[in-house]
Amino acid sequence: MCGIVAAICNKNNANVVPILLEGLKKLEYRGYDSAGIAVIANDDFSRIRSVGRVAKLEKQCQEQNLTSQIGIAHTRWATHGIPSENNAHPHISENICVVHNGIIENYEQIRQNLQNAGYVFQSETDTECIAHLISFYRQQKNLALLDAVFATCQDLIGAFAIAVIDKNFPEEIIVARQNSPLILGCGNDNEGNFAASDASALLQKTNKMIYLENGDIASLTANNIEIFAQNINSKLLENISHLRQIKISELSPAAVELGNFRHFMQKEIFEQPDALVNTLEIISGCQNVQPQIFGVNAKNILQNISKVLILACGTSAHAGLVARYWIESIAQIPCQVEIASEYRYRHSIADENQLIVAISQSGETADTLAAIKHAKSLGQHKTLAICNVAESAIIRECELKFLTRAGPEIGVASTKAFTTQLVALFLLTLVLAAAKNKNINFPKLLNDLRHLPVAINKVLGLETQIAEWANQFANKNNALFLGRGLHYPIALEGALKLKEISYIHAEAYPAGELKHGPLALVDANMPVVVVAPNDELLDKLKANLKEVEARGGELYVFADANADVKVSKNLHLIQLPEHYGELSPILHVIPLQLLAYYAALAKGTDVDKPRNLAKSVTVE
Ligand code: F6R
Repeated sequence: MCGIVAAICNKNNANVVPILLEGLKKLEYRGYDSAGIAVIANDDFSRIRSVGRVAKLEKQCQEQNLTSQIGIAHTRWATHGIPSENNAHPHISENICVVHNGIIENYEQIRQNLQNAGYVFQSETDTECIAHLISFYRQQKNLALLDAVFATCQDLIGAFAIAVIDKNFPEEIIVARQNSPLILGCGNDNEGNFAASDASALLQKTNKMIYLENGDIASLTANNIEIFAQNINSKLLENISHLRQIKISELSPAAVELGNFRHFMQKEIFEQPDALVNTLEIISGCQNVQPQIFGVNAKNILQNISKVLILACGTSAHAGLVARYWIESIAQIPCQVEIASEYRYRHSIADENQLIVAISQSGETADTLAAIKHAKSLGQHKTLAICNVAESAIIRECELKFLTRAGPEIGVASTKAFTTQLVALFLLTLVLAAAKNKNINFPKLLNDLRHLPVAINKVLGLETQIAEWANQFANKNNALFLGRGLHYPIALEGALKLKEISYIHAEAYPAGELKHGPLALVDANMPVVVVAPNDELLDKLKANLKEVEARGGELYVFADANADVKVSKNLHLIQLPEHYGELSPILHVIPLQLLAYYAALAKGTDVDKPRNLAKSVTVE
């Protein structure tokens, strides 16, 4: 969940410090409680670390006029040890300096062994044991830097992407990955070479990327990159550079810039019409949906499945919950949704004909990845990834894949990833329905899908009214979100958005469940947000609203234009366009995203980087 960057440039050419800092800024979404940088200058390390944001680190680098041709840097999301200068990376052990993203599960044992061997620890982190271990292999075993890193990696259990420098050897950076993402950037015109947790950090310099695989170790010099991995037979390192192709990243640097928006979350909410257009491009001009949009073997696989199990976390799991309604009602296939962190440790009943669908924006969520591996270990090999990052671990783990084309999502609160996931899941529903010979009106549903961007634009036009509501929310401590049926997961998503960025405690309930407990919470201080589409459950929902009104609760209702909900003293109403049928959840989530955004704005919280969170959760 941290971000790492490494850069080495030609001597007469450059200073890597601005490159490292710029890279860290792009990775800040991965963690932002502290940051640090280390370079080699005059045969020694110059290291600056500080608690807080990269901007603070940048100022310190400028004050100290830090320059060098080689360096590594880190932005942290604390796991082992509080956010403090001592716990911030890089960590140094004599001549060795390391940055690390991931978690070393056996660090206590390694730490103990190293302490017994006389190594003194300065921090509470698991990372420091990596630095000492490399140092140990360098000095006690006299290994070259590459071999010392390799030997160290053999000892580590857990997840890591590391970058290592040796102050006596300022011509090389060694990087290695196991279960945490790591990408190499090949500099243009011999300018140098780079590595980072994600391509967005490297686009400032190059779009030529090499995606490292688990077990890869790479040596970066200013003019060369060599990649190694352990040979299965000899157990020795072998050069596998020829197996790792350079890929040209299609990400434009502008895609990771804020532009005219105040926050990435706001930008990403407003990008949703375009994100949907891009995601739907795969069916442009089609009158039906071919299974092949999920991969070459999709037709065979999808025809023979008997049920669906969706695995995901957080917002992605909410997308799965919406899909459950679609898959069961339209394709009429049994569908379950399970939180990945629960599924991976549960004794479940496996079924080899069950389609395992993993949903993830980042494609790196540790629990989701582990859940897919767990499902496969139980003999369930029909796997589909719905994911926003092309080269991610989750995409690579699954046989079938669908890439949502939301573009980079930087704000910690997921928005455009969610709506594009819903589009992908609706396409899956249609394909499953066709595979099971269900009688569905393809042209109408595809037309509705294609019209969604226009419909979303209309909902985005409600921004000012929603911002006014949000101002009334800002002084509340709690909120309830209600929905029914297909829109219950949308209520869950609205509550999650509000709590994660505004820190207002929010809970969602299926509206019919209110009288079984939560109604006791309702009073004048408890705003109740209601998702009220004009569907077959509307009358029942209206009865639930009466239950709230009768107890003095204050209702904030988002209703379809034709839902005929009446404004009263305690019932505030914002009308969406007319009911949008099965796809209505995709429209109804938009005002809830805006409500959370403006509530956070009114409260003055850090919208894009809410406290205690990070964007991609690559640790358990
Ligand atoms: C909430 C949010 C998280 C993520 C969750 C899964 O706004 O962003 O709940 O949805 O951490 O992440 P991905 O989709 O990357 O697997």
